[in-house]
Amino acid sequence: MNTYDIIMKKRDGHILSKEEIVYMVNGYTKGEIPDYQMSAFLMAVYFQGMNHEETTMLTMAMADSGERLDLSAIQGIKVDKHSTGGVGDKTSLIVGPILASLGVPVTKMSGRGLGHTGGTIDKLEGIPGFCTSISEEEFVNQVNEIGLSIVGQTANLAPADKKIYALRDVTATVDNISLIAASIMSKKLAAGADAIVLDVKVGSGAFMKTLEDARLLAKTMVAIGTLAGRDTTAVITDMNEPLGNAVGNVLEVQEAVECLKGNGEKRLMEVSKVLAGYMIVAAKKADSFEEAIKLVDEVLSSGKAYNKMKDFVVAQHGDASYLDDMEKFEKAKYSRVITGKDLFIANQESLEWTSAYLIACNNQEIGMTSLVLGGGRETKESEIDLTVGIRLCKHLGDAICASDEIAVLYGNDEEKLEIAFKRFVKAYTLSKSNVFDNKIVYEIITRKDIDTSFSD
Ligand code: URA
Repeated sequence: MNTYDIIMKKRDGHILSKEEIVYMVNGYTKGEIPDYQMSAFLMAVYFQGMNHEETTMLTMAMADSGERLDLSAIQGIKVDKHSTGGVGDKTSLIVGPILASLGVPVTKMSGRGLGHTGGTIDKLEGIPGFCTSISEEEFVNQVNEIGLSIVGQTANLAPADKKIYALRDVTATVDNISLIAASIMSKKLAAGADAIVLDVKVGSGAFMKTLEDARLLAKTMVAIGTLAGRDTTAVITDMNEPLGNAVGNVLEVQEAVECLKGNGEKRLMEVSKVLAGYMIVAAKKADSFEEAIKLVDEVLSSGKAYNKMKDFVVAQHGDASYLDDMEKFEKAKYSRVITGKDLFIANQESLEWTSAYLIACNNQEIGMTSLVLGGGRETKESEIDLTVGIRLCKHLGDAICASDEIAVLYGNDEEKLEIAFKRFVKAYTLSKSNVFDNKIVYEIITRKDIDTSFSD
């Protein structure tokens, strides 16, 4: 077997064997296959695709490239969640404490943000003292004691994905369904949970721009999880605008805490509750989704979920007094209000307008606005500014007039604030009539929806 022949076979559209896929994954992880050959291989996969069996074999090879976490010392059905990536997505910070307060053990390994998307680990580091790298033993003990731990991925968890993802990121091969499915599911399988709930994002701020692609990605991942013996469900949710009101690390922690205190934004709460609901059913703590939602409402209104968040912060060495008094969080030095008039001016055709509807949003641009302010990473090595970001005052479908506050930008550098302002105001499309369908949860994919017709 040699690398050249395998690249050529995929380039010409043939199906690879298990041995060939394992050879590529292991060879690249060990440094025996150079970046230029792996890049060519990934591009061949990008254009020729992989069928269902190849994608599953790729996932397994990547999951087996490092150690698999042993969670057998944790009692109960362990449930994990994963989002395919979005803007303002802080659902893990809301769902984790909800589940733990209901006695569902949540073992979560999260990533950092890259490009226009945010990452849970960066957000948690916005809480003073919070430690995201604890030992495996501490992780297991913490879940047994308080029901929840969220840590950064250890270096040896699916190391093949770490290397391949970094290469995809610079070779324009990220947005391919097989590669995304294998990347996400290899980490989920190696992280050892019994059940997995996937939040597959669709829209202008997501990797999947159409419902059709999102459905295919969801079905592919549910099939892989099911074949690997994990109870896997996917929820397809909207990413055509940021989720909730806050984008940026500390701002998102504050918003998640507000949700747990019972003051959550409608769409953010809907996604969080749906994810929590399916996780509770997977953990067999409720017989039906409806019953699970009732349990979620109870722990939110009784304050149990909020108290669990505080226990979780304390357990990972964070200062929980910041949650009770959120004024204590460090703030960015500057802020800039964006008004309806600013959008009218940026949107040339609507110069004469005094009112309009927000009908579309280039959500990737909103993510980039936060990145420009310093809240995201351009490369893996970039330092991020945890205090900067955006607070949205309006959402798609809302009517706006010239004097309305649409958003507030927060930054520590006036020049960056100006660049961010210019990007933000161009991200929205306005219309005289409201044509927006404000849907947030599109579809649920379970093992019952899997058939063989999606294999390529
Ligand atoms: N998230 C991942 O972990 N991998 C991908 O390929 C895309 C999103």
